[in-house]
Amino acid sequence: MRRCRKKRQHRTKNNPSDAMPKCGNTGDIVDQMSGNQPRVLVTGAAGYIGSHTCIELLGNGFEVIGVDNFDNSEPVVLDRIAELAGRAIDFVELDIRDTDKLRAVVAEYQPTAVIHFAGLKAVGESVEKPHRYWSVNVGGTLSLLDAIDGSAVERFIFSSSCTVYGDPANVPVTEETKVAPISPYGRTKLAAEQAIIDCLSTRDCGGLLLRYFNPVGAHPSGRIGEDPVGIPNNLMPFAMQVAVGRRAALSIFGNDYDTPDGTCIRDYIHVVDLALGHVAALSTATTAGECDVVNLGTGTGSSVLEVVQAAGDAVGTPIAFEIVDRRAGDAAVVYSDTSKAREVLGWTATRDIGDMCRDHWLWQSQNPDGYN
Ligand code: NAD
Ligand code: UD1
Repeated sequence: MRRCRKKRQHRTKNNPSDAMPKCGNTGDIVDQMSGNQPRVLVTGAAGYIGSHTCIELLGNGFEVIGVDNFDNSEPVVLDRIAELAGRAIDFVELDIRDTDKLRAVVAEYQPTAVIHFAGLKAVGESVEKPHRYWSVNVGGTLSLLDAIDGSAVERFIFSSSCTVYGDPANVPVTEETKVAPISPYGRTKLAAEQAIIDCLSTRDCGGLLLRYFNPVGAHPSGRIGEDPVGIPNNLMPFAMQVAVGRRAALSIFGNDYDTPDGTCIRDYIHVVDLALGHVAALSTATTAGECDVVNLGTGTGSSVLEVVQAAGDAVGTPIAFEIVDRRAGDAAVVYSDTSKAREVLGWTATRDIGDMCRDHWLWQSQNPDGYN
């Protein structure tokens, strides 16, 4: 087990009242731990959403123990988290399927909450390598549930995806919308949700299953961001790689959908808003043995052409594109109903598509080749 205990720096917040999440509601974890920093185990801490969430957790007074095997991330991100937050996370390099190592981390650090980001997320790869997806996304989740059994963990927050809804019949998508995933990736996310629901039902631990819509953007410093391996599958990273000169032109997959401009509509959400959603989830009352599902989106749909326009505005030059055939499996319109997130978490996204493009461009332009 490679252990990286970053040298502790002075906390920017050492008054217990400063440990209250900045985004609104005060929480039972914080209250119960009054006088101590609440400790959160973050799996996939070095990844895109995990790294942004670590910064917001540190900024809100939480103690973070990160684990990751760097399957889709770089160790340098840990230094950048420390640089941006003014203090470091504790970190252990491991594969979450190694239950013994994970159990040893839980025994040593005694976290009271878990945020489970570690997983694989490429839809196309999941079709080609379904076993790998079931092993990491479902096997890894079972291993984590095993490792925390009997521990002090009283809250389990899971990174799920709107992909579990498949091609929804109606929008906005609520948490009651029928789940019908159409890829191995989507099925593993749904299976992981169900494993968490069943396993926590017998424990003194409550769960929040957060279904993200389309995370984009980057930390406003431009120091951390999304660094996809190979050719990006997703719209914003591809558009930004065109802007930085790594790709010639964006292919827009179809302009003959039943939407105002003919291109698909999605609910893009700034990754910092998403990170703050996790801070809110940590301070939301949960009931032991029960899990709740919450969508995390903005509630606003943007078409592909609108995103391309906003990206060009942020960059200062238009994004070159061509219209090509539809991509198989794409739904025409997907956006979230945000009322449950507001009611349950007291959380609402505040950043718009212009903010998302500005910050994504700052990251991409300062790091044209990502972390390398
Ligand atoms: P990411 O790939 O950037 O981060 C995932 C992290 O998990 C990486 O650092 C990777 O190295 C790590 N990891 C993978 N397998 C591991 C293993 N076996 N053991 C330990 N660490 C492992 O992805 P992300 O965008 O930050 O996504 C985080 C989570 O959110 C994923 O579970 C994903 O399914 C979910 N999600 C992502 C999106 C999105 O568009 N980014 C949308 C919905 C849901
Ligand atoms: C993808 C994943 C989904 C995941 C979601 C959130 C697929 C099929 N689905 O959804 O499981 O939950 O991300 O991250 O991968 N587009 C282009 N050109 C491109 C790339 C995309 O026109 O080069 C279009 C797509 O057709 C779509 C929109 O842009 O209409 C958004 O695409 P993308 O970023 O891949 O997200 P989703 O398809 O919504």
